[in-house]
Amino acid sequence: MITKLTIDRIMEATDIVEVIGEFVQLKKRGANYVGLSPFSNERTPSFTVSPAKGIFKDFSSGKGGSAVTFLMELEKFSYPEALKWLAKKYSIEVEETVESTENKEEENHRESLMIVSGYAAKFFHESLLETQEGQNIGLSYFKERGFSNETIRKFELGYSPDQWEAFTSKALKEGYQQQFLEETGLSVKRDNGTLYDRYRGRVMFPIHSFTGRVIAFGGRTLKNDKNVPKYVNSPESEIYHKSNILYGLYFAKKAIRDEDNCYLVEGYADVLSVHQAGIENVVASSGTSLTVEQIRLIGRFTKNVTILYDGDAAGIKASLRGLDMILEEGLNVKVVLFPDGHDPDSYVRLVGTNAFKTHIDQNRKDFILYKTDILLKEAGNDPIRRADVIREIVESIAKIPDSIKASVFIRECSHQLEIDERALLSELNKMRLSKARKEAQQNTRTIEPSDYLPPDELPQELPVKKEDSSQEREIVRLLLLYGNKMIDWDGIANTYIGPFMIAELTDVEFEHEASKKFVNQYAKEVENGILPDEQFFIHFADKDIVDLTVTLLATKYTLSDNWYEMHKILVPDEQVNMKATILGAIFHLKKQKVGKILDGLRTELQKAEGEADTEILLTQYMHMKKVEKSISDYLGSVILK
Ligand code: GTP
Ligand code: MN
Repeated sequence: MITKLTIDRIMEATDIVEVIGEFVQLKKRGANYVGLSPFSNERTPSFTVSPAKGIFKDFSSGKGGSAVTFLMELEKFSYPEALKWLAKKYSIEVEETVESTENKEEENHRESLMIVSGYAAKFFHESLLETQEGQNIGLSYFKERGFSNETIRKFELGYSPDQWEAFTSKALKEGYQQQFLEETGLSVKRDNGTLYDRYRGRVMFPIHSFTGRVIAFGGRTLKNDKNVPKYVNSPESEIYHKSNILYGLYFAKKAIRDEDNCYLVEGYADVLSVHQAGIENVVASSGTSLTVEQIRLIGRFTKNVTILYDGDAAGIKASLRGLDMILEEGLNVKVVLFPDGHDPDSYVRLVGTNAFKTHIDQNRKDFILYKTDILLKEAGNDPIRRADVIREIVESIAKIPDSIKASVFIRECSHQLEIDERALLSELNKMRLSKARKEAQQNTRTIEPSDYLPPDELPQELPVKKEDSSQEREIVRLLLLYGNKMIDWDGIANTYIGPFMIAELTDVEFEHEASKKFVNQYAKEVENGILPDEQFFIHFADKDIVDLTVTLLATKYTLSDNWYEMHKILVPDEQVNMKATILGAIFHLKKQKVGKILDGLRTELQKAEGEADTEILLTQYMHMKKVEKSISDYLGSVILK
């Protein structure tokens, strides 16, 4: 377990805007920052970060929490993984207390897979640089391809020895477990149960997660044998989902944001060469055709994608349809072709950085216009095929969510297609209409907060159903906001609100799971003489508690800039008449609980057989009735509502 002291240091150092800013483009708005939700596919920002409170709230997915929660949600980190990530970022040394190995194994399954992968990357890297075989075969290959020492080091390139068990036996000897070697795919099991290396005699490209940890590998053969696959890649594992990964993203993300553009290439080698040439905003989809997840990943950093294709026409045609998907996600897509036989890797090495950039600038073409070009050339003068082209192009344009942008394309394509703009527009409207109908049928209506709304007017999560939990949550809210403040009982005595409320509520059983956890935790802290504040719960290890805390804190009023003003207007009495607020909440909850007990007793009374039973139930009933009455009286006397 990570020590309390370390956790405190991490929390102190963490700047939530800085952390989230690594993943989400944030804009300052008043005291807060807003951006596009990384958890849902929204086009108008409803994702809000409050640096003052150290929390974020995503109004579109409902998620919220601290920087730690954010990393857990986004990267699927465990709690300790997220803490370690922050510790690394802020150069804080992590102290851990020893845990039983059983516990550790279970809790850190993913962590174990990452540790094994990291170890393997180191092994391959060292065998590239430090062994004779690695230098002679792997390193000389990389050098021949023009990769610098700096690139080799930065991307942790490696070499896997041409033996059956070089890696596996070393890893086992060092205590890495068979299970993790298998699950990462680094080792493969033979029928007799022993393991052998998946990668043998290949140059190795480690694949990094979004946050820079090695999660998989691509290994390229150095043989020119048609029967040997050129690349062997890691299988899917708990830490590696191909469709969610873009090769090079970790090294590119800063440049992508700075340049507000992302270059998309096909291969590992393309990423390395282009990056090495100083154009760092480059990623590869690595063999698989582009997925929606990958597009959204790019969309977190920029809305502009430039696809760098090699000049092979068959490949281009095959990918035209797939690119519509990028339009649908609201990204602007440009395409650049390279002279026949060249890919970005070979071309940048041939002409150098400057000429490469010039080529891109001069040949950058909007995807739709480019697609029109290609399809038209293919159709020739055949009128039927030309009609098909028109339909297909309008179909692509119809996928662009921004209608102004779409109409610009309509105009440009009307020139290219030599067809009246109005005809294209009416075709477009037809498609839009039928799409809208289809969506309405599927009942997938989503309400999107409009861009210009200030965050305090962004839609809230659905209000809690008018059931029990609202009363319990009100208690939690008051504990959070005022628990460590004093209350003045009409000048007679001062007490802290938290301990007072806890004492008053000892006989109340909470039902709403998160509220129950919260109140129990609060009681525990009070017992230890601590008055926990907002930050305590924001950074608490239990996700339910953090969720509840943030939801309650991130109401319209507290996350808006002028929350106090809003507060005064909308909840005029809350702080002025603290006594009424606190007692009101406690006794409303009690009254509700008593009401429930009475309901239960009534049902039992109806079913009761025999005088004795009825007698007992009646006595209980009368007693609870009295309690209810006294609560009502009390409420009436203290609270004027
Ligand atoms: P070089 O030939 O060294 O320039 O490799 P490259 O990285 O440019 O690869 P290429 O353009 O041939 O292919 C693009 C990407 O597709 C590669 O980076 C790999 O991710 C993937 N790929 C290519 N060949 C194979 C293969 O045989 N198997 C698998 N699984 N993936 C491959
Ligand atoms: Mn290549």
